[in-house]
Amino acid sequence: MKRISVKTSQPYEVLIERGGLAKSGGYIAEVTRSRRAAVITDDIVEKLHLKTVKDSLEAAGFECSVFVFSNGEQSKCLDNLGRIYDFLCESNITRSDIIIALGGGVVGDITGFAAASYLRGVDFVQIPTTLLAQVDSSVGGKTAIDISGGKNLVGAFKQPALVICDSDALKTLPHKILAEGMGECIKYGMIRDEKLFELMESHCLENVDEIMDEMVYSCIDIKRQVVENDEFDRGERMLLNFGHTLGHAIEGWHSYKDIAHGEGVAAGMCMITDRLAPQLSERLKKCVKAYKLPTGSDIPMSELLPFCSKDKKNEANDINYIICREVGKGEIVKVPFSEFCRLMEG
Ligand code: GLY
Repeated sequence: MKRISVKTSQPYEVLIERGGLAKSGGYIAEVTRSRRAAVITDDIVEKLHLKTVKDSLEAAGFECSVFVFSNGEQSKCLDNLGRIYDFLCESNITRSDIIIALGGGVVGDITGFAAASYLRGVDFVQIPTTLLAQVDSSVGGKTAIDISGGKNLVGAFKQPALVICDSDALKTLPHKILAEGMGECIKYGMIRDEKLFELMESHCLENVDEIMDEMVYSCIDIKRQVVENDEFDRGERMLLNFGHTLGHAIEGWHSYKDIAHGEGVAAGMCMITDRLAPQLSERLKKCVKAYKLPTGSDIPMSELLPFCSKDKKNEANDINYIICREVGKGEIVKVPFSEFCRLMEG
């Protein structure tokens, strides 16, 4: 097993271990004195992994209550949040008990937000079961729900008490879901670590399992460094948004349907690199294609730019965008939004 200690306002560990789900109860028992756990998951993960985790929790002495909702982004909403609060209340969860998010990014984000807000804060554990959730959303304490005005617009920073990543859980993922996690992994290589990028560019979607443990470890460790330096997203953490300005715009243009987040990120990274660092474009696109991700979009830039104006990284009339002029070296660049439009349309 590998451990990464994240030294944020609430320090915690990320455990990376094949077969970790079956041992999760014992690990969780080490971070809480309570033996009452509320497990929140979705109906796909329920069938794949709930029994393993619940059996392990019960063997470690936990009394478990379980809440299952429908898989998909549409569940990351206020109505579902309300149902989760009711479930926590009916399960008599107190501030000293533990909430467990078992699933992908949607489960982690909404469960984390419920844990941040219910009783003004209950400890929670992330057990991410998708690649994207393991390398990105489960670590760093961003929790959120979507509202009609946009994705992730209501949320809180709430660090988990523990994260348990089991790469065996990724074996059941459809290729499309695995590929979208690769969008974020490629991002980490581009912004911070050329060796990690080389590891990924020498493999492809079909044989990525060979490098999974090393890749997941490296990605989480980069996230750890960035989050420790800027837990509340005022500076360096914006680097993690490489590819996200145009990626979110593409997702928004599609009304967040028919395109996965990691696909938007992959296309966004390639599009900004095409325009602002063309010397890297072919290398990046080759790697992106090896993981069956899009290298661009047919949507006219003039239709994407209005979505970029709503980016959460914007300040007054300025936009912060991320560019890598060399592999492994991300930079945050702040320009007036009008200048960003000129660069992207040029
Ligand atoms: N997913 C980007 C961040 O955690 O900052």
